[in-house]
Amino acid sequence: TYRIAILASGRGSNLQAVLDAIATGTLDATVAGVFSDRTGAPALQRARAAGVHAQALSPRDYPSRAAFDQALFARVDAVAPDLIVCAGYMRLIDAAALASRAGRIINIHPSLLPAFKGLHTHRQALRAGVAEHGASVHFVTPDLDGGPVIAQARVPVEPGDTETSLAARVLAREHPLLVASLRLFAQARVALHEDRVHVDARALTAALQL
Ligand code: GAR
Repeated sequence: TYRIAILASGRGSNLQAVLDAIATGTLDATVAGVFSDRTGAPALQRARAAGVHAQALSPRDYPSRAAFDQALFARVDAVAPDLIVCAGYMRLIDAAALASRAGRIINIHPSLLPAFKGLHTHRQALRAGVAEHGASVHFVTPDLDGGPVIAQARVPVEPGDTETSLAARVLAREHPLLVASLRLFAQARVALHEDRVHVDARALTAALQL
């Protein structure tokens, strides 16, 4: 089966959506390991509750970003993932760690990229006054939140929205978006070739409707 490693820093609701999809048979894959940069991340408990190997490394135990990422990805590599998924992983990844894994690391980001990169995306969207917001799944490259987009989910911004209400509306769409994207990978229907995403458009539409 298709092996997924997940990096998560916090709550882990996207991780949970993946675990649930696998448990209910709507995603044919296995989570081979969950890795965190925060020892107290609830995501670790979610993984262990599902019987998945989970491990945290603390950045302060390493002299540099490169050293931390070397240690982290040595552990990730040990579970032999086909794909590495950043699901609420809030740390920049060293370019050297990315270079050898091009096309094998993806991220879910809470905005319609290229709009609103970085942090506080819901606040950014409200301040910009956009009518539509959402989430994107994209390949991770050294350009922060700038890698090629694989799939997006859109939601309306409603009058009276707050960061909290908007974040909740987006998050509800993130979960099926991430699962649908992983389904494409597990079915080998998406790939990165020289910075361009090749995706089976019919498969993507079908996956997003599930
Ligand atoms: C999600 O909204 C995800 O898109 C976002 O953090 C949240 C994690 O929630 N990721 C980023 O902002 C990455 N820069 P979760 O821990 O419940 O999955």
